[in-house]
Amino acid sequence: MIDSISEHFSTRLLQWYGQHGRKTLPWKMDSDPYRIWVSEIMLQQTQVATVIPYYARFMQRFPTVQAVASAPQDDVLGLWAGLGYYARGRNLHKAACVIVDQHGGVFPTCIEDVAALPGIGPSTAGAILSLAFDQRHAILDGNVKRVLARVFSIEGYTGSSQNMKLLWQRAEQLTPQQQAGDYTQAIMDLGAMVCVRSRPLCPVCPVQTMCRANREATTNLYPMPKPKKRRPFRSRFFILAQDETQRIALVKRPSHGIWGGLWCVPEFEDRKELEHWCNTLGFVVSSTGRQLQPFVHKFSHYDLQINPLLVSVENVSMGRIAETDELHFYTYRQLREIGLPAPISKLLESLELVHEEQTQ
Ligand code: ADE
Repeated sequence: MIDSISEHFSTRLLQWYGQHGRKTLPWKMDSDPYRIWVSEIMLQQTQVATVIPYYARFMQRFPTVQAVASAPQDDVLGLWAGLGYYARGRNLHKAACVIVDQHGGVFPTCIEDVAALPGIGPSTAGAILSLAFDQRHAILDGNVKRVLARVFSIEGYTGSSQNMKLLWQRAEQLTPQQQAGDYTQAIMDLGAMVCVRSRPLCPVCPVQTMCRANREATTNLYPMPKPKKRRPFRSRFFILAQDETQRIALVKRPSHGIWGGLWCVPEFEDRKELEHWCNTLGFVVSSTGRQLQPFVHKFSHYDLQINPLLVSVENVSMGRIAETDELHFYTYRQLREIGLPAPISKLLESLELVHEEQTQ
């Protein structure tokens, strides 16, 4: 459906493109879908200025899709070296083979066939076909998402499935019947040159009067970022069980999970579990335990609050508590020699300092 607002939007944008658009980029010089395809893949996640020399070398070495398909993948990746995101190069090579094997070496012209090629999503497929053949297809790359999120002040993360649906609808609605190729290049250029991420140049924007974020002076709010997930949080007791001679009990941790296989002070979910452990081993806990300062240790995927509990245990040096392969008492001096998890090591070091002060 093309309503009058959409028509106005595309007319203004096309006028602006006629005067200010980038029409001299190397891939703009002809309408060969192969050349446009390579440029669109290189331009994903990479700035135009970086792409230009890579594109020139690629075209010199691989002037046709047949040249890519008949080359070893390593040759393609060799020319990609430095551009990053190498899956793009691998997919380009795979897709060239599909074009030669299944499409007789001719770049497909039907959007379903193009979007089925490795490394080509719906937006890139739309871009290639509109730029090469002036077919009417919407596109929705990062630049376009930003423009539309501002024009329609789309609330919430632009990548959510609900917003993606809405953005695609808007993109379709705005794409004109005529000059679809120019419109595709125009909206990409607007995103790259005017409606930039920070400090957009709204006073020179051809669609400023149609932009809700501009009217409400809220362009800095759009596009809204992905909400940060709260990091999982766990809280555990770590017991520093000290015998009559100030030795500390260490247990060997199970081989799976954090600190797998390392020696560590025993860890418990709650006091009940801790008491059960002491009872099972025949520890006589001579005090209810002294809670030391809790602290948080950050793992890559969660935060662990360490609640250290200092308890005195008896009956160890009397030989009534059996030390095993899994449980051993160590002097502070010995503890320094053992590879302990870093936060536990730090905790024991601070305890050793207190201990030294007390015995001096
Ligand atoms: N980014 C993605 N495609 C582009 C194109 N055709 N021109 C400029 N920047 C782009």
